[in-house]
This record gives sequence, C-alpha cells and structure tokens, in this order.
Amino acid sequence: IGDNIGLTPALGWNSWNAWGLSVDDKKVRTSAKAMADRLSAHGWAYINIDDGWEAEQRQPDGKIVANSKFPDMKGLSDYVHSLGLRMGIYSSPGPRTCGGFLGSWQHEDQDAQTYGDWGIDYLKYDWCAYSEIDPKPDLAGLKKPYQVMRTSLNKINRDIMYSLCQYGWGNVWEWGAEVGGNSWRTTGDIQDTWRSMSSIGFNQDKAAPFSQPGHFNDPDMLVVGKVGWGPSLHNTGLTYDEQYTHISLWSLLSSPLLIGCDMSHLDSFTLNLLTNDEVLAIDQDALGKGANKYVKSDNYQIWVKDLKDGGKAIGLFNLSDKYQTISLNKNDPVLKDYTKFRDVWQQKYIVTTGKTFSAKVAPHGVMLVKVSK
Ligand code: GLA
Repeated sequence: IGDNIGLTPALGWNSWNAWGLSVDDKKVRTSAKAMADRLSAHGWAYINIDDGWEAEQRQPDGKIVANSKFPDMKGLSDYVHSLGLRMGIYSSPGPRTCGGFLGSWQHEDQDAQTYGDWGIDYLKYDWCAYSEIDPKPDLAGLKKPYQVMRTSLNKINRDIMYSLCQYGWGNVWEWGAEVGGNSWRTTGDIQDTWRSMSSIGFNQDKAAPFSQPGHFNDPDMLVVGKVGWGPSLHNTGLTYDEQYTHISLWSLLSSPLLIGCDMSHLDSFTLNLLTNDEVLAIDQDALGKGANKYVKSDNYQIWVKDLKDGGKAIGLFNLSDKYQTISLNKNDPVLKDYTKFRDVWQQKYIVTTGKTFSAKVAPHGVMLVKVSK
C-alpha cells in the first residue's frame, strides 16, 4: 500500500445526516446511483456508510459482520465500484460506536482485514465509547487509538482513506497527520442552521495552517439539500445565500466535502451548488492549503487561499442581516500582484475600475473571487 493517498480532500456522500441509524443497503445503492448519474463527472466519488451497519455480535472467531440491513457488504462495494465510485465505512476504537453498535476495540487487525476483503476505500473512525477505555485521555491517550488502527490499516493490502473523528479534542489538527489521518474532524456535529454552520466555519482559522496534501481538516458534513431522518426529512435550514457561504468556506478551507442529504431528492439548486467546477477546483487545489482569515470585523470577513497556479481564492463574506458592500484596496498585499478578478460562482470575469475591489454581498452571503495575473 502507499502512503500517498488522499492528496486532495475527499468529495463524497455520507449516510448520517439523511438517515442516521436507519441506513440500509438499498439507500446506499440509491445514493451511489444518484452520485454516478449526476455528480461523479464533477469529481464526486465516495459513498460512505456511517453508523448503523454493524451486527449485534461478532462471529465466534471475532470477525465483524453486518446486520440484516446489509446482507452482502462485498456485493454492495462491488456495485459501488462498478459505478466508478468508492465505498466508505464507519467504526469506533471503543467497544461500541456512538449509536451503540459494535466498535473495533481489540479487533483492530481483524476489522482492517475485513474492510480490505470487502473492498472498503475509506474509514471514519469515531471516538465514542473509547471514553470507557480512557475516560480522561492526555495527549498521548488521545493519539493512541488512532495509531493502533493506523498500524492495522498499514498491514492490509489495500489503500483506505483514514478519517479521524473525535470532535477536535486536543487540537487534533496539530497531530492528525502524525498519527496517519488523511482527515480529522475539527468540531462537534454540524446542524443545518446558520448559527451551527457559521460558528463552525468561521472558527477554522486555528486549524487551517495544518492543512496539507493527504492531511485535511474536516469541519463536518455539508448541510445542503434534504436532510433529517424519516418523518423529519426537510429542506436544509440554510438560505440559498448561506449555502453559497457554506460551500465557499469549506472549499477555501480545503475541507472534505461530504454531502449529507438524501441524494434521490437533489433539486436543481442543490445540484448547481455541488457541480460548479470552478468552486470545486478551489477545494481540490493541489497545494491543499487552508485559507487564512485575512480580515475580520463584526459584520464581515475576508478569507484568502493560495492556489497552485499562483492565483488566490478570496471569499468576501457578509455576516450581517443586510446587504453590504465589502471592499479591498487594490494596493493591498493580497491583491497588488493581480489584474484579473473572476466571480467563481457566476463563472465570469468582473470588470473593475478604480482603486478598490468592491462587491455588494447578500445577507449571510459571499462573493467568491479568484484573482490571477
Ligand atoms: C458521532 C459523529 C457523527 C456520526 C455519529 C454516528 O456523533 O460525530 O458524525 O458519525 O456519531 O453515531
């Protein structure tokens, strides 16, 4: 196996926000088909099963098995692969997962081997009941269970993206790469509200400098489209402009983009949001940088990301409830070398004369620009 995997952040889908513990084989297949038909041409590839796939008990030999909702994991991954996609799975270093299902505690080698045999390409590894094993972990204790599974994953003959989930404890961004994580959650669980999304997203500046190819900060899944389980299925609580902000900020941060909605209900707005190649190119930029919070005021913020081609991606975010004009002086260090300003969402160059670059930005919205020479 190689250690050069996941050089750009994962683009995919995860079952949790749409289905929680009621995820099943059919829902995963439907999602995979929707991704293949409508999103994969834009780079989307991962179909990740979150918590809720595991059986009540291991086999007598200790092997993990799926519950009756997943009659044939290998068959499912073969199907996902036949669509040109990759399949992810979920576990915990503890005896139990957050949903109370079986975790990998003391079965790490065996589980890694089983994932390899099933053709798994991505593992989300969620602390959860590991607190029973180590209730008050110090830094070494926080790292330990992730190192154990890293060692197990290294023993098998398959590349598996390794996604750490422990909600940002112990400044995981400072050591997530050291324990071999391809990404690590930097926060608790996101919700589909402006308050949740903005307080997570606009506070990622501490973690951003640690972003690098193969090792990315993960501020949690995308709350776009239809979210919520069963009868609570509803359109995201974010306005259209808040959704532009969400995708722009996550892309500036080089975050994994993991769609959390029911993909059989992708409306045209959501589809447009997720298939803008110029926006996705900012997320997938080969330098893998996390944007820098360059200007911060009560009402607006400007985040700047260096890009591989020498240009920069700049997000001018309006945090207020009213339309606002946000400006940057063209002599400012981030702009002074550049002459071209491209509105990335609109995919057109902006004609700008005068000494400042100004954009009128909608409430909770964004102007995402790429500047180049
Ligand atoms: C935790 C994680 C979520 C999800 C659930 C599953 O809350 O943070 O993303 O995986 O567990 O039980």
